Amino acid sequence: MSSIIIALDGYSSCGKSTTAKLVAQQLHYAYIDTGAMYRAVTLYFIQNHIALTNPKEIDKALEDIHITFRLHPVTKSSDTFLNGMNVEHEIRKMYVSDRVSEVSAVAEVRHAMVAQQQRMGRSKGIVMDGRDIGTVVFPEAELKVFMTADPLMRAQRRQSELLAKGEMVDLPEIMANLEKRDYIDTHRDESPLRQADDAVLIDNTFMTVDEQVELVVGLADARI
Ligand code: C5P
Repeated sequence: MSSIIIALDGYSSCGKSTTAKLVAQQLHYAYIDTGAMYRAVTLYFIQNHIALTNPKEIDKALEDIHITFRLHPVTKSSDTFLNGMNVEHEIRKMYVSDRVSEVSAVAEVRHAMVAQQQRMGRSKGIVMDGRDIGTVVFPEAELKVFMTADPLMRAQRRQSELLAKGEMVDLPEIMANLEKRDYIDTHRDESPLRQADDAVLIDNTFMTVDEQVELVVGLADARI
């Protein structure tokens, strides 16, 4: 049986990570959350007051940033580490979500992240979710999925996720954040979010997580 690359792209809070993680588990593949990488860079930029208008400062910061993933011994989920520190919880907070799309639109940031993502997927057997995986990171991926869902449903799901982590945020604030991120992500010059021509479109508004996973695993099986 051969190993393939599964690229899962789509708008913010469409449930990409949840589906991607479970698909990877079923196929015994690695899972990479590229949004977490951009969030970790954003956290570093916030903490170190990196000016997005200063390319030299950005290049130096990118040299100093080391992002790794490690499996949590109890939850078995993949935690994000920034220079050896577990930042999994911090990068999901609203103050990071508020800045992440601006940071992700910077060309130098994208080049550094894409290069690292391509190295991670070299040996295939990987499920990667993000915004440009099927179009830029792995345009040759054997399976490309583009996920979408109703904006209100997405905001409600995001609110529940934040609540489960102890952060209470109003629905209108979440909707505004998702709208802003989607706008920046789809309108930036460097690798904007768009559906790859050969991607399978899944609108999961009325689908359960199990249904989504079954669908994607079925699509993958047909290509393995
Ligand atoms: O997936 P998540 O919502 O955590 O991603 C956070 C942000 O990171 C997105 O809104 C987008 O601006 C950026 N991103 C990106 N390219 C990716 C993954 C995420 O620009 N491949």
